[in-house]
Order: sequence, then C-alpha cells, then structure tokens
Amino acid sequence: MKPTDKVTPQKLWNMKTAGDKITMITAYDYPTAKLTEKAGIDIILVGDSLGTVVLGHDTPVPVTVDDILHHTKAVARGANAPMLVADMPFMSYHISREQALTNAARLIQEGGADAIKLEGGSEAAPTVKALADAGIPVMAHIGLMPQRASIGGNFKVQGRDADTAAAILEDAAALGDAGAFSVVLEFVTAEAAEAITNSVEMPTIGIGSGPHCDGQVLVLHDLLGVYDEAPPFAHQYADLNTVITKALTEYRDDVRSAKYPGEKHTVHMKPGEAEKLKKKKG
Ligand code: KIV
Repeated sequence: MKPTDKVTPQKLWNMKTAGDKITMITAYDYPTAKLTEKAGIDIILVGDSLGTVVLGHDTPVPVTVDDILHHTKAVARGANAPMLVADMPFMSYHISREQALTNAARLIQEGGADAIKLEGGSEAAPTVKALADAGIPVMAHIGLMPQRASIGGNFKVQGRDADTAAAILEDAAALGDAGAFSVVLEFVTAEAAEAITNSVEMPTIGIGSGPHCDGQVLVLHDLLGVYDEAPPFAHQYADLNTVITKALTEYRDDVRSAKYPGEKHTVHMKPGEAEKLKKKKG
C-alpha cells in the first residue's frame, strides 16, 4: 500500500471540503475486512454492534474492551488502506481519564486501530479532549446512543423538535471543539443532521439520519441481509440469509444422499497401494 492510499482524518476533512461522500461500514473479522478494502470503503468500524450481530448478545452492553481488541486485531490483519476505528465499549471510558486513555491506547497499540469511537454528548467532551491531546484520533457518536438506549430503553428518533435538535447541535459543537475529528449521527432527523453537518467543521457520518451527512455508515450484517430483521433505515444490498441457508441445506442433503464428496473432491493412494494395504491388514 502506498502511504497516500491510507485514509486519515485529514483525508476525511478534505473529502468534506470537496463534497465527496465518506463511506463507512462495520466489520469484525479478517475476511470481511479484506472484502471491505476490496470494495474501496473509506472507514471500517469494529463497532460494539459486535455484541448483537456476532456474539449473540441482546444488547452491546456486555461487550468488553478485550472483545473489541480481539476483533480489531483480526480486521487490522485484513485491511490496510481504510481507516480502522475501534469502538470504546460500555463503561470503558467513564470511570476516569486514566481508564479512557489506557483502554483507548490498548485498541491503538495492541489492536492496530487508527482511531477510536465513543458515545456521548457534551459531557464526554473532556474525555475526547484528553484522548485527542494524547494524540488519539477520536470519532464521536451522538443522537441515538445504543449503549445508553439499551439500558434506558429509548430507541426513538432524536431531534424531532427544535429544542432537542438544538441540544444535539450543542453536543456536536462541544465534541468538535474538544478535538473529535468526526462524529457519527445515529437516528437523528434529517433536518437536525443537515444543520449539524453545516455547522461543524468535522465530517458527520450518518446512520438513519438522512442524506445530508458527509458520509454514511451501516452495520455489515444489515447491509448484507444476514438476519431476518434489520432497522428500517438500513437498505439491504444482498440477501445472504437466503444464500447461506440454501448452501447449507444443499450441503446437508448432499452428505445425507452421499452425493458429496464426489470423485473430484476425493484423493486416492498411489496405484497398487490400496491392495498392499488390504494384504497387510490380512
Ligand atoms: O457499534 C456500531 O456498529 C456503531 C454503528 C452503528 C455506528 O456504533
């Protein structure tokens, strides 16, 4: 990879200035990281959606720093050019500045991430500043924050009225001032997302937040149609559920009917050796 191919915060800022849309997708393992790079996606996020779409939890809350680290390492081995962002899981940055720095440093140093992402509004700005001052690129995440929503049960669209939209705008401004290089806007009304995008210098990356953000992110499994259900804002670009189920049932049927393995999948001993073996067995 040429050093110029690497997606950096500066490159994302240049894209915003030029009006070029930023593409971001979650990935959690080596093969999907490779495919994501092959498709020319700008940013890979090892999101804490790992908990629900890969590890089978009901929410992202049980995900640990070690979980994110394990999967970030695999993704780092599979992709070079895209910016690799690792999510800070629930309560991994709230206890103290030291805790936030230590956990973020692990994701960068041991995991190979280029940046970290954390959920939180203005109250998270001091943490963002501490990380940014230490040289760790921070992507903020506001609007619907799944870690909190999972506990509070508030999965509603954010910024439906002027007051709540203004509060999200204030959050975005505080996080930008604190040194975040980008911000994810999750499930925010299109009007509020547009106002934020026009008011902050850093690129906004939307998920369920309309077309006016500087970029878009989706959870890989939603885009690929791995599960029967996906959020209403996620466009399903493939139906892997059908493709994978069909392949697995055909395999099951072929094994049961002894159609698989066929001659082309089978290796044989050298000529005459099978007869010798039979004699040896007596
Ligand atoms: O964890 C995740 O996948 C995320 C995206 C939905 C932005 O935070």
